[in-house]
Amino acid sequence: MSARSTTEDHGPRRIEAGAPPERYARGWHCLGLASGFKDGKPHGIEAFGTELVAFQAAGTGELHVLNAYCPHMGGNLAHGTVKGDALACPFHDWRWAGNGKCAGIPYAHRVPPRARTRAWTTLEENGQLFVWYDPQGTPPPEGVTIPRIEGAFSDEWSDWTWNSIRIDGSHCREIVDNVVDMAHFFYVHNSFPTYFKNVFEGHVASQYMESDPREDMTAADTLSAQGRLRSEASYHGPSYMIDHLWTEVGGATAETVLINCHYPVSPDAFVLQYGALVKKLPGMTDEAAAQAAAQAAEGLATGFEEDVEIWLSKTRIDNPLLCDQDGPVYQLRRWYEQFYVDVEDVRPEMTDRFEFEIDTERAVRVWRDEVDANLARRAQSAQR
Ligand code: FES
Ligand SMILES: [Fe+2]
Repeated sequence: MSARSTTEDHGPRRIEAGAPPERYARGWHCLGLASGFKDGKPHGIEAFGTELVAFQAAGTGELHVLNAYCPHMGGNLAHGTVKGDALACPFHDWRWAGNGKCAGIPYAHRVPPRARTRAWTTLEENGQLFVWYDPQGTPPPEGVTIPRIEGAFSDEWSDWTWNSIRIDGSHCREIVDNVVDMAHFFYVHNSFPTYFKNVFEGHVASQYMESDPREDMTAADTLSAQGRLRSEASYHGPSYMIDHLWTEVGGATAETVLINCHYPVSPDAFVLQYGALVKKLPGMTDEAAAQAAAQAAEGLATGFEEDVEIWLSKTRIDNPLLCDQDGPVYQLRRWYEQFYVDVEDVRPEMTDRFEFEIDTERAVRVWRDEVDANLARRAQSAQR
């Protein structure tokens, strides 16, 4: 072995990209706005490598989620009909109750006593429908829940906007990585982070960020066009992020709540969903609030499109090569790992409190120079 190869030259870094995990993250997953499922029809959802069906019981008004494939002969309940509190299969009209029990077979003398399909544990919170996923079949532990967002229940706030996009060819770890990725906010999202801190603890991973608008970008190019932005964003479990935002607009502070959530479809596909709520400013009409929320949603859409463009051409990377101004990618992934192992294999380093604040001094200086150079170039070409 030559001395050279052991001391300074280790050769080019090789990207390690194992296959994405076959299993899906344990936790609450948001399937969308609850109101979207309350139209009297069953809704098929491709998730967790299978198909689910969500429906509202006509009598009780409760939302239920079952496996879509009927255990009788495999009919797809998403193509069935809600009859009373049960969902009727389109194939032979077996009736399935929200708890998974077969509630009736009209043409049979009796229901086989063990006739049962899988009913998923659901939760309705913040006007959204959630299912609990755990491959070990354990119910959600106490304290692992979705926090209530007051604005979702208040007349002082707009209604939710809601959008979803399916991303094929990527594992959802890509979106979770964003939690610690300060630099991409400048390069991909055209915003200018000036403060950036992460805290991970238990099943919650948070990002605290302050950013300025980039003066060299037009309003359409940037997420934080209006003014200085303060953001407190937390993943509550593997897939549901609540982001509280405060923006300066003309002397007033606008308050926005964004949801960024996803559920896995297969090991390399997921559905990204996002929504916005805007607090009405004094004297703001419902229409104006709805418009402000729509605008926030549009900014979100732009942001996600920018991320998606990167994901579509990037590779999975298990061993990112980091510099001193990058956030704690490895620690975040260790936190994220807790959702992919059996409960008894969750280790303290996955859940122990971890805090990291990036010293943004150098990045801010370099970015300021880049923005100034862009502005100077623009002014020059305008003079010609
Ligand atoms: S397959 Fe569903 S009732 Fe026969
Ligand atoms: Fe991003």
